Amino acid sequence: MPNVVIVGTQWGDEGKGKIVDILTQSADVIVRFQGGPNAGHTVVVGEKQTILHQVPSGILHEGKQCIVGNGVVIDVETLINEINEVKAQGYFTDDASLLISEKAHLIMPYHKRIDLGREKKKGKNKIGTTGRGIGPAYEDKVCRNGLRFIDIFNDEVFRTKLETNLAEKNFYLRNYLDDEPFEVNEIFDLFTRLREKVRRYLGNAATFLHDSLQSSKKVLFEGAQGTMLDVDHGTYPFVTSSNTAAAQASLGCGIGPKHLDNIVGISKAYTTRVGAGPFPTELEDETGTFLRDVGGEYGATTGRPRRCGWFDLVTVNHAVRTNSITHLIITKLDVLSGLKTIKACTGYRCQGEILTDFPTDFQVLEQCEPVYEELPGWEEDVSKITSFDELPGAAKDYIKYLEEKTGIPVSMVSVGTRRAQIITLIDPFEK
Ligand code: GDP
Ligand code: IMO
Ligand code: MG
Repeated sequence: MPNVVIVGTQWGDEGKGKIVDILTQSADVIVRFQGGPNAGHTVVVGEKQTILHQVPSGILHEGKQCIVGNGVVIDVETLINEINEVKAQGYFTDDASLLISEKAHLIMPYHKRIDLGREKKKGKNKIGTTGRGIGPAYEDKVCRNGLRFIDIFNDEVFRTKLETNLAEKNFYLRNYLDDEPFEVNEIFDLFTRLREKVRRYLGNAATFLHDSLQSSKKVLFEGAQGTMLDVDHGTYPFVTSSNTAAAQASLGCGIGPKHLDNIVGISKAYTTRVGAGPFPTELEDETGTFLRDVGGEYGATTGRPRRCGWFDLVTVNHAVRTNSITHLIITKLDVLSGLKTIKACTGYRCQGEILTDFPTDFQVLEQCEPVYEELPGWEEDVSKITSFDELPGAAKDYIKYLEEKTGIPVSMVSVGTRRAQIITLIDPFEK
């Protein structure tokens, strides 16, 4: 049985949470391997909606092991709130079903203040981050100043690291961002209280995962964000601060790449983006408003309206190559019902040339115009359809068109927020 990696192929919010929840039925272990509370993964079960930020979306199923890998950055305070909310909804009844890597780095209060302060200072040039301290936390990890989850359980190590960090952070906050500094004791006392609520989740996630793989357990890797937000392969600098691509599933939890079998790319039937940065197929007209209204396109983490546009084959094919995608899952097909025609961008016209690779140079990108192919739309409501054959002809043709243009088989089509609103063509855990 293969292991399955889920990645977003666009700018995030493709519906990864819903798909992870569905595929969890076939998995034993569900692992988050990068990102942090910038993620907002929505799962709808019955009348209940749950938005997961740091806890894997597999947590809504009993008897599954959820893991937060070393590649994730953790905000302990918001993690405790998230755990309490999920428990209050009646899920996550066994604390042993969550294991958090002792090597995962922590988002500290100063990371959040720096993130917000920098965005404010950048003014109209801001990235539009989620303000969750993601960038500053990953920076500290890479520059070897970071605090790891394990560090807060040793008073001496924690205090020493905190003192060293605050000397630098406070200087930066006061003198560069014109903001308030922190007291060592204020953070130390806060974390010595908080740590008792999360101590039980601390462990060696890599060893656990290794043992699970040795005993042929099936692992589902849950990516956050999307390929166009990857720090290397996305629209830099308008990206997040981690590698979101499938290969990170290996490094982000401490197992080798040979265990990453099926790479499943999730794409919306159109495109959205939240935050600033290039978006060639963006629609600032009534079709864009239609997609936002019908698709409920408001950020799951920040509530910000998402920018909406047509499906972009240039970006999705970039994701196909970057991740070695083997299966494609198309979500939110139901949102397109009622549109007379549907457009898909096949390339960017730039000074008489057609580009099919996403340009690295933003000055080139600025001169690009999307080239569209038009397909007929459909009127029918597809949200109750559970088999591909029952879809309206034009909807089937659109899916087949996306398969042909990406060269990747579509394994599932999602037609609504609920678990039952799914059409399965190929089960990614089967082949
Ligand atoms: P994620 O970050 O990739 O997990 O996606 P989000 O949860 O941020 O955003 C996806 C939104 O679309 C959520 O509100 C989901 O409930 C919703 N959703 C997922 N799949 C479908 C679908 O097939 N149709 C519709 N209408 N909504 C969907
Ligand atoms: P999920 O997992 C959509 C975007 C932010 C901003 C940029 C950098 O729900 O798909 P950051 O806070 O990471 O430094 O912000 O990345 N962003 C997301 N957009 N979905 C997400 O996660 C995102 N996580 C970050 O809006 O443009
Ligand atoms: Mg989201």
